[in-house]
Amino acid sequence: MSDAAPPIDLDGLRDDGLARIAAATSTDDLKSVEGDVTGKRSALLEARKSLGQLAPEDRKTAGQALNEVKTTLEAAMDARRSELAAVELATQLESERLDLTEVPTGVTVGHAHPVTQAWDELEDVFVGMGYRVAEGPGIETDWHNFDALNIPKGHPARDGFDTLYVEHGPPGSTLLRTHTSPVQIRTMLAQEPPIYIVAPGRVFRRDTADATHLPVFHQIEGLVIDKGISLADLAGTIEAFTTAYFGPGYTSRLRPNYFPFTEPSAEFDVQRPDGSWLELGGCGMVHPNVLRAGGVDPEEWSGFAFGFGIDRLASIKFGISDIRNYFRNDVRFLSQF
Ligand code: PHE
Repeated sequence: MSDAAPPIDLDGLRDDGLARIAAATSTDDLKSVEGDVTGKRSALLEARKSLGQLAPEDRKTAGQALNEVKTTLEAAMDARRSELAAVELATQLESERLDLTEVPTGVTVGHAHPVTQAWDELEDVFVGMGYRVAEGPGIETDWHNFDALNIPKGHPARDGFDTLYVEHGPPGSTLLRTHTSPVQIRTMLAQEPPIYIVAPGRVFRRDTADATHLPVFHQIEGLVIDKGISLADLAGTIEAFTTAYFGPGYTSRLRPNYFPFTEPSAEFDVQRPDGSWLELGGCGMVHPNVLRAGGVDPEEWSGFAFGFGIDRLASIKFGISDIRNYFRNDVRFLSQF
């Protein structure tokens, strides 16, 4: 049988293979070299097949020699692959590099959405007055959204909120928050007074969208709890905010109103330089029941809270008559701000 076996030039196979591996210029290139050198099309594989034709006593040594060549070639291939991959990665990173120091000319750079601008400015105004920014979840328990805010089950004020409920837990127990006021409760439960926070965020109501309503909108809540806080502090804060946000030509007033979570309660309006009044939001002295729900002793502490719509505020500032425009994503509208 041994007469049929062609001589195998193992050294030649190895040297040729190593040369081709070294000459590969990319990982793709190396992949095809691999096919030729150790893969299905390779002379090495052919040689292995021909082992069967050797005499049994020669077969073992020839097999071992063949395996050694294969191992050598595979190791060379691995090493070359890492080399090439590193070069390719470096080239790719270099080509995808962005020069962030250069502002392109003639290209629209874009800016924050007007509601986001209003949100940021409001935070700035209140942070400037010493407030901290607090947050709460959009999905709330009915306890945080209602009960703890002195709106027990069956209270008529619940109907006014057009609540969207979430299927989670017992029916009616979980909802999309209808206002940012539950952040009052969460903040009181999380920290000891004195408290000076604003809580901007998204709120939800079962409303049909029209020029002045959206089912998803934004509010900013304010909460102050300290010793000896009075209605005068609330009125002064609203006035300070009004001039800081709108400018010196603007002023504010409080009008008696009713909210279950504040007593007394008021609506606050802003007067524009032309003398017209705009209703902005609600406010009042935090109700003792709300302080108690937040673990705060009403005998020791008192406070005020306020809440108003950010979208509405932005509309006043920018002179927008239909708030639906904010969320139509029409660049011609948005690019004006
Ligand atoms: N949460 C009230 C609303 O959404 C606003 C408000 C906040 C009123 C805080 C008083 C105090 O209408």
